[in-house]
Amino acid sequence: MEIKMSESSDKPVLVTCGLPYANGKAHVGHLRTYVPADIFARSLRKEGRDVTFVCGSDTHGTPIVVNAEELGITPKELVEIYHRHFDETFKQLGIYFDAFGTTDDPENHNRTLDIVNRLIEKGYLYPKTIEIAYCPKCNRFLPDRYVEGSCPHCGETARGDECDQGCGKHLEPGELQNPVCTICGGPAEYRHQEHFFFKLSEFRDYLMNYLSNDLGGTINARNYALGWVKQELTDWCITRNLEWGVKFPGHDDLVVYVWVDAPIGYIAFTEEWAAQAGDSWEKFWKGDGEIVHFIGGDITYHHCIFWPAMLKGADYSVPTAVVASGMVKIEDKKFSKTRGYVVWVGEDYLDHGFHPDLLRYYLASYTSHTKELNFSWRVLQEKINSELVAVFGNFLYRTMLFAFKNYGEVPEGELEPEVSAQIEKTIEEVKAAMAEYEFKKAVDTAMTFASFGNTYFQSHEPWALIKEDRVACGQVLYNCLQMAKALSLIFEPVLPGRMETAWEQLGQEGSVHEAKYEEALVPLKAGTKLAKPEILFTKLEDDRIGEMEEIANQRVKAADAKKAAAKGSAEAKAPKKSDGMPPAEEAKAAEKPEEAGKTKEAEEKEALPLVEYEDFAKLDIRVGKVLLAEPVKKSKKLLRLEVDIGEEKPRQLVAGMSSYYAPEELIGKHIVVLANLKPAKLCGVESNGMMLAADDGGNIVAALMPDKEIRPGSRIR
Ligand code: MSP
Ligand code: ZN
Repeated sequence: MEIKMSESSDKPVLVTCGLPYANGKAHVGHLRTYVPADIFARSLRKEGRDVTFVCGSDTHGTPIVVNAEELGITPKELVEIYHRHFDETFKQLGIYFDAFGTTDDPENHNRTLDIVNRLIEKGYLYPKTIEIAYCPKCNRFLPDRYVEGSCPHCGETARGDECDQGCGKHLEPGELQNPVCTICGGPAEYRHQEHFFFKLSEFRDYLMNYLSNDLGGTINARNYALGWVKQELTDWCITRNLEWGVKFPGHDDLVVYVWVDAPIGYIAFTEEWAAQAGDSWEKFWKGDGEIVHFIGGDITYHHCIFWPAMLKGADYSVPTAVVASGMVKIEDKKFSKTRGYVVWVGEDYLDHGFHPDLLRYYLASYTSHTKELNFSWRVLQEKINSELVAVFGNFLYRTMLFAFKNYGEVPEGELEPEVSAQIEKTIEEVKAAMAEYEFKKAVDTAMTFASFGNTYFQSHEPWALIKEDRVACGQVLYNCLQMAKALSLIFEPVLPGRMETAWEQLGQEGSVHEAKYEEALVPLKAGTKLAKPEILFTKLEDDRIGEMEEIANQRVKAADAKKAAAKGSAEAKAPKKSDGMPPAEEAKAAEKPEEAGKTKEAEEKEALPLVEYEDFAKLDIRVGKVLLAEPVKKSKKLLRLEVDIGEEKPRQLVAGMSSYYAPEELIGKHIVVLANLKPAKLCGVESNGMMLAADDGGNIVAALMPDKEIRPGSRIR
């Protein structure tokens, strides 16, 4: 991964996290944004950098209004509940923000007004009369999720602002076909309404340059965004007919779209911090302090396109870096609350007495930051037992126990050059990995150093030496204790809770959280009293993990049952709703009632009829080398590929692979292509063939790749 953060910069750094919607509980998916950001902020502080770490709740938008209405409470009441929940959960996990506000705070209303007014003054906003869904029965306009219908691009059921079940495209108001009101279920109509648009299209050149030359962070964010900008940027409707939100100046019936005031929250929360700390928010937002946004890959478009354009247009500083994580999956299944693939931070983890540091460790060390992260209870058990317990915990405990029992204090000794060199090297490598947002690499480096400690202890056999030469043994233990001290500092960003205890056991003064990396090389004072050590990491036993797996299975079963029940009742109602269905189709549907209830999996396990070899031979299947892969604009599922299949010119294919592969994972790979499939247009892009992949009918999709290097164009037969 490339770094674009000025490495030895001493500028102040603002670190932010994608704001949680105050509309539901914290889950492990969220933590992929918050835990690495907290690790990063802690590590920068250890380097001596001036860090401000802010976040807050995202409180506006239609889902919150819809939810509050369903619960019979006000949006304000709803968001207060979840705001408190997130605030508490983050603290329990050791994620400490310098400010944690809400986007409904006066600071954010004011800052949003300032930015919107500046955009108006500078001519970047214009009114336009558009068609907005309106429900004559409910007597109201229907923004975003208040309306459902079919997607104009792919025909799937979609909601007002996004084709969430089909092609994933962002939908502008008025685009949805056959709109239906989600409040009363009745048909909606389109009515003319004046709304305000942001001239995003004017920022194309600016963004192209900014994304190519200035923006740091992870390469996935930059590349996705560049892919979108290269295609087309359409102006963006930034007002909504809602009561709840930040009022659009001069129009009491309109609020700004939630994606306008949500990122502005980053500024408002910096202001809240500055007011209370007696510091300046302008050093970031009007000056050249660094701004690093941590987000999940799902909100890259908003952070790399809308947000910098808005800031630029209103004369604010733009982000220095966008660090986008891969998404979290649960037990190898796509994250889904409705399907039961979710792990709640409170009821599924903390409430069962698992230490927060274990989850932090898992999230930081499972895989590289831009990759998908699979949360699995078995993998958690395996990682904790074989890494934290067997390697790091073992070194700390044996060192401290031996020293405590035999000396009761830090013995006389001198730091050996080999040991200090190891400490120094580890810290340099950890810092470098952090600067590249490679948290796994940082943790692995620290763990390698813990292994070195174990080898050092083992090979010096202090248990034998103590009987022969107490002074020589003291020298060995002195070095082991120094390594324990260094490791406590190095692991503090990842394991802040447990390292606080380790620090105390080592008799160190002050806070391990405030101590800098440099402290690791400051020799221990002989005679420092040691506390009786406590085991810091204990094995996760099979029965505990089994219990958690059972809870997870039950949840999926319950979700299936709920879905089946909903489907059953929908089918029971179906004949009544069949108005408009041609009579022949209706008869067919009635003929085969069992077909309707068949699950996708059952369909897939059914064998197909036998075919002749001639039929197979009609398929032109070849090996292709992927020369280019990029997302299809605003489609969450599709990638555009250019593939060398042994012809003069590369073939253009469109493949529904975005959820399973990042473009850069495919570039250079040999794949398998059905070359003589009739061309088809997907989201406006022509596909001349098909990339072949295996699909387990659940959530795993694996591209087929030949198991030897072979010439592109090679036939499959
Ligand atoms: N409110 C918006 C962000 C506004 S930022 C100006 C939002 N909220 S969220 O609650 O859905 O997500 C909060 C953070 O968690 C975001 O950074 C999001 O990317 C991240 N994640 C939420 N679910 C996730 C996974 N399943 N996997 C990885 N990260 C995910 O988006
Ligand atoms: Zn669609």
